[in-house]
Amino acid sequence: MVKKPFIIVAIDGGAASGKSSTSLALGERFHLLHSDTGSYYRALTAEMMRLGVSPDDLAAVRAALGGLRLGTRVVDRSARIEISGRQPGGEIRSREVNDAVSHFAAIPELRTALLEFQRGQADVARKGGFRGLVMEGRDIGSVIFPDADVRFFLHADPKERERRRVRQGQHDRVAERDRIDSSRKTAPLSCSEGAISIDTTRLSIAEVTDAMAAVVDRAFGAS
Ligand code: DC
Repeated sequence: MVKKPFIIVAIDGGAASGKSSTSLALGERFHLLHSDTGSYYRALTAEMMRLGVSPDDLAAVRAALGGLRLGTRVVDRSARIEISGRQPGGEIRSREVNDAVSHFAAIPELRTALLEFQRGQADVARKGGFRGLVMEGRDIGSVIFPDADVRFFLHADPKERERRRVRQGQHDRVAERDRIDSSRKTAPLSCSEGAISIDTTRLSIAEVTDAMAAVVDRAFGAS
């Protein structure tokens, strides 16, 4: 079997479905650059809020986007976003951002502003000497990297997902966010055709990671 030198792993799923824990673990196991696209939407949302821009005011959103410069800073194994040279902080996980992010993420212009930035992470990973890119989000396997070497879709019972957030000390209405993320017109949350779907409700992070790692291993041509 031919060994692939570089692979792209796409992981999609709703809030608290297990994407972050498993993608970080896969990144570490296979030396992949980790890209959490939810953090990019959160960072842009926090920036819009800082500028006093409402998601209902499209002209103001467009004007604000036009003034922003997006960059990447690799910290350990993670591709972090920089907005006009600034790294966002803990505010991107605040209750206010949790409540607003789905409304901003439904705006096509805001998604377009992030599209090439997200695709560009593959080059960042290559240049950084990584063996690949593991990118998590809602539309990675459907829109950003439909030709990814491996595509996963994680899902779990909404009650279990609320419990996970509470254990993380967060206030997050996951069912409400999922409803908005799944029903928007542009790039809705969905399991793309051919993606490997995993129900994580009753599985530990280690069990889900092991199942995913076996697939990634095969994609590298190692078995
Ligand atoms: O993964 P997360 O819960 O941190 O994502 C925050 C929000 O960002 C999510 O509710 C919807 C949006 N998002 C998106 O629309 N597309 C992505 N690829 C990633 C996140």
